[in-house]
Amino acid sequence: MSVVQNGEEAPTSYFIGKKEDIIKAKRVLKFMNGRDVLVIYHEGKFYAMDAHCYHAGSSLENGDIEEINYKLCIVCPSHKYKITLAEGEGLYKARDPKEKNPTPCWFSKGIKQRVHTVLEVDGDIYVRMSEERGWIESDYYQSEKQRQERQKCAEICAVDEGES
Ligand code: FES
Repeated sequence: MSVVQNGEEAPTSYFIGKKEDIIKAKRVLKFMNGRDVLVIYHEGKFYAMDAHCYHAGSSLENGDIEEINYKLCIVCPSHKYKITLAEGEGLYKARDPKEKNPTPCWFSKGIKQRVHTVLEVDGDIYVRMSEERGWIESDYYQSEKQRQERQKCAEICAVDEGES
């Protein structure tokens, strides 16, 4: 659907839900335009990003949110990778070997997780998919093949849980 924002028609956007419902839920997972997208409400702002972590594809849905280097990050539950909410930047802590007494500090790996734009129109929330054309590592986990792999794993887990 196209939405009108500030008098201009925005590119195709996907309806997520009523603003008040998303504020209550805090996190919403949606499949749109062939991607699993996680919409997050945190401290008065909305964010949207690919739902599967760029590192190994785990779901970010239940990741904690922390402020690191003045940036809000989601922390992947699986291996604790830190991803900035606004940009999708991967952050890591390391010591600079060029310093004499290096203390660990935060560095950026660059953009690793594809983020999308959240729009609010008359109390409704929409997501406009990222138009960034280059490859972003989280793209790998949005393929049909990866979706089928996740489905298979979920089925195996369900059988295992049923047997125990
Ligand atoms: S899958 Fe997210 S940190 Fe490894």
